[in-house]
Amino acid sequence: MRILVTGGAGFIGANFVLQTVAERPEITVTVLDALTYAGNRTSLDSVADRIDFVHGDIADLDLVDELVSGVDAVVHFAAESHNDNSLADPWPFVQTNVVGTFSLLQAVRRHDVRYHHISTDEVYGDLELDDPERFTESTPYNPSSPYSATKASSDLLVRAWARSYGVRATISNCSNNYGPYQHVEKFIPRQITNLIDGIRPRLYGAGRNVRDWIHVDDHNRAVWDILERGRLGQTYLIGADGELDNKSVVAALLAEFGRDPDDFDFVTDRPGHDMRYAIDSTLLRSELGWQPRYRDFREGLAATVRWYRENESWWRPRKEAVEHAYAAQGERTLPTH
Ligand code: NAD
Ligand code: TYD
Repeated sequence: MRILVTGGAGFIGANFVLQTVAERPEITVTVLDALTYAGNRTSLDSVADRIDFVHGDIADLDLVDELVSGVDAVVHFAAESHNDNSLADPWPFVQTNVVGTFSLLQAVRRHDVRYHHISTDEVYGDLELDDPERFTESTPYNPSSPYSATKASSDLLVRAWARSYGVRATISNCSNNYGPYQHVEKFIPRQITNLIDGIRPRLYGAGRNVRDWIHVDDHNRAVWDILERGRLGQTYLIGADGELDNKSVVAALLAEFGRDPDDFDFVTDRPGHDMRYAIDSTLLRSELGWQPRYRDFREGLAATVRWYRENESWWRPRKEAVEHAYAAQGERTLPTH
């Protein structure tokens, strides 16, 4: 089987490629990645001689058509992925997430290639803290940010191409991932690298927002299950019952670093900040037999901390620019709650 992995130099895509090469040596992998600020080719150094890497844009119709014509399946991870950036400058999100997905869909349609679309639970909007419901495959779309609105748009394109053109597509909507190779702009790596640098972690608002954490390897194993055995045209939610509020994540990190539990700052909240995400992954578990392997978040977090400690050369070159950008976006320390 030959697969095209878009966004394979990003966080989840790189972990997917590393896992695939290690566990499925019979698969031929081609990565297409534009190497934006979020892409890092060194994440793939250990498998460089086992894959083909193409530096290019998913919105380049001719390039995409040529690459898709030579594979059996496309796994589409490439995206502009950070909510805060989407609030500051939404245009690249529309271009990559919507137009880029359109470009891939046209190519898989023309060449009748199997397509798996990676998406997020953020398309469903958010839940109240005390809501007993969780997101399911039939929850109505209600995205809040430019990022989640463009991801929702791309999901809808996939559904239309599957129904109207018979594209052999599946979609997965996953909750927040953590693990190695995640960009230092994101919540957990930002706080880990702050702590390594002796800087206090930064919690938006009151730190009460809840995210449903899943280890990136568990996400990627679910993607393989869906690619191999998922029903065509079906959406699957991926989640590992990992709900935690942001304050608890920071508390776990402070404990991991042997720091005082109060050693953090509250900072300016994100506009439109979604309160809570929670996934009901019954369909994936019952139909495809998927189970998370990382069941203890604190253990997974400790391993992630170790990875950032041991791989400073991977993240250090990007750290200063990220902190600069947050400061330029107006992030300020708030009085203690
Ligand atoms: P990331 O920002 O770490 O990586 C994105 C990758 O896409 C980068 O390598 C970047 O260079 C590449 N890219 C961006 N624009 C491109 C373009 N026009 N053409 C080709 N490549 C381009 O993102 P991530 O966190 O790895 O997310 C991957 C996918 O998973 C995204 O579709 C995202 O919406 C989805 N997702 C992420 C999470 C999460 O917690 N990070 C959760 C659920 C779903
Ligand atoms: P993030 O990693 O940006 O993912 P998402 O917005 O897709 O959920 O943020 C995760 C949570 O952490 C979210 O509630 C925002 C919050 N957050 C902070 O409290 N401090 C930070 O420095 C960052 C980057 C995020």
